[in-house]
Amino acid sequence: MASDEVYRASTYAPVNIAVIKYWGKRDPKLNLPTNSSLSVTLSQDDLRTHTTASCSSSTPHDSLILNGHDQDISGARTQACLHDLRQHRQQLESSDPSLPKLSTMKLKLVSENNFPTAAGLASSAAGFAALVRAIADLYALPLTPTQLSRIARQGSGSACRSLMGGYVAWEKGTAADGSDSVAYEVAPAHHWLEMRALILVASAAKKDVSSTAGMQQTVASSSLFEKRVDEVVPKRMKAMEKAVQERDFEAFARLSMKDSNNFHACCLDTDPPIFYMNDTSRCAVRLCEAINSHHETQSGKAGAICAYTFDAGPNAVVYYLADNEQAVAGLFKGILQGKEGWEGKRGGSVKEKEDRGVLE
Ligand code: DP6
Repeated sequence: MASDEVYRASTYAPVNIAVIKYWGKRDPKLNLPTNSSLSVTLSQDDLRTHTTASCSSSTPHDSLILNGHDQDISGARTQACLHDLRQHRQQLESSDPSLPKLSTMKLKLVSENNFPTAAGLASSAAGFAALVRAIADLYALPLTPTQLSRIARQGSGSACRSLMGGYVAWEKGTAADGSDSVAYEVAPAHHWLEMRALILVASAAKKDVSSTAGMQQTVASSSLFEKRVDEVVPKRMKAMEKAVQERDFEAFARLSMKDSNNFHACCLDTDPPIFYMNDTSRCAVRLCEAINSHHETQSGKAGAICAYTFDAGPNAVVYYLADNEQAVAGLFKGILQGKEGWEGKRGGSVKEKEDRGVLE
């Protein structure tokens, strides 16, 4: 008789915000990117997805509930993640027949985001990272975060970077099967723990053009994009890794802002044009510019103290160092408090360490 034991594992996955953006797929089926990217993983106290994966012999079908609502998981990308994870579990079960046959049971996945879903706040990144890690923990898979990143990448590209803390790069890779398109840690969070992220929510509404659709329109129609992929990003990746290694905030800031602007310029160069930033977003850009030039005038030396970056939505993420909390976050809060167009703001620090979640 089949046992009715319920197996369960829960985990958190944090949001990551790219400073060199992933935009474009060279292989949409395997979700392989046109360029490498680099991000900062935020502390999971701030923005995160919590996911519980469970299975039993009586679980009727695979399901995912996000924030209380049933999700369609029949899509190829979610299915690719489930398939790979089950295959890894099957291998374990065939090498140790005493293990319960979890790979044949249906999965029940329950997720909660503590931030707006699909509003350009990297919800799919935290979502797929949490889903993959919760199932990997449930299956007790002996896989490294890099191995898990290969699986999560298929669900959503940016998710592969949420499996590690600190400063994380996603190497685009060259293998046709995507085996070398994985995330790796550029530096752990404690290398540059002073980094802070201020998240300015200009709109919590769902975005008009999804990242998935938008990036492929850009690949198909933007000539600016060709230069971005061939020349701009490869150079910038090297310079950004160096800025992180050397804790050079000035370089980190200039590169982040330039890359965000280059990415949004490619969106504008897309046919039909895609507008993710709005007037409220541009207000945040101007304020960052003003803070940086005021600092330069006051201190008498060149050096940005804050950097804006925008994903596929109007919300700004502003990076700065803890020492400049008042000069950056203090000023933003003071100026934007109660202003029309701003729905809220949250603080963020860098996720300190990689933990594998809690097994219940
Ligand atoms: C602008 O990872 O959401 O946030 O792979 O199609 O799911 P899919 O795209 P997704 O795209 C993220 C794009 C971005 C930049 C970034 O995070 O690097």
